[in-house]
Amino acid sequence: MNIVAPSLLAADQMHMERDIRVLENAGAKWFHVDVMDGNFVPNFSFGYSTVSALRKTTNRVLDVHLMIDRPIRYVEQFCKAGADYLTVHVEADTPENISATLDKITACGVKAGISIKPKTPVSAIEPYLEKCSLVLVMTVEPGFGGQSFMADMMPKVAALKEKLQQINPTCHLEVDGGVDINTSVVCKENGANVLVAGSACLKAADKKEFISTLEK
Ligand code: DX5
Ligand code: ZN
Repeated sequence: MNIVAPSLLAADQMHMERDIRVLENAGAKWFHVDVMDGNFVPNFSFGYSTVSALRKTTNRVLDVHLMIDRPIRYVEQFCKAGADYLTVHVEADTPENISATLDKITACGVKAGISIKPKTPVSAIEPYLEKCSLVLVMTVEPGFGGQSFMADMMPKVAALKEKLQQINPTCHLEVDGGVDINTSVVCKENGANVLVAGSACLKAADKKEFISTLEK
């Protein structure tokens, strides 16, 4: 079964707990939490105090996606705040520091993830695949919810699936951006097993049906 991670960026920020309960009742097992620093991406969103508040509110898996420069500076805070998965972008620091960042996340007892932006080739994250519990392929330019799905990212998903099968078969392969009832099909066909869904999930009239359809 696939995993659906509703993105809380699309939740009603004034009624986050209400939306979390609705999503939990609809079957959500993971929540995707986007962290943006106004620098790595041209937008701001949540910080570690939000992750900490979410941790007190739900026992579901918190899948924290850091879209911040030099994330090594904040690894401890996000781990302490209660992230289950902490994903950093390969473009956010030097190769040496990215490697050290993933090691630091793991040393904190949290599952480490690596993400690539649409223009970044698979080769950029190959050196880190063995260290990771999750690989995140962006299917939009990071920074904003509600953008159109980039189907041309699918060869990247397929290539990563093949590599992971060889060297790290238990690693999750996640897609993020523009995932809905229709676009999720091709993501799964190419090997993604974790589907982040923001606007499509939060706007779905029947969230239970939305989640169970994507899970299949
Ligand atoms: C974009 C974020 C996504 C976003 C997805 O930078 O990483 O997680 O919330 O939103 P949708 O599903 O609306 O594209
Ligand atoms: Zn995200």
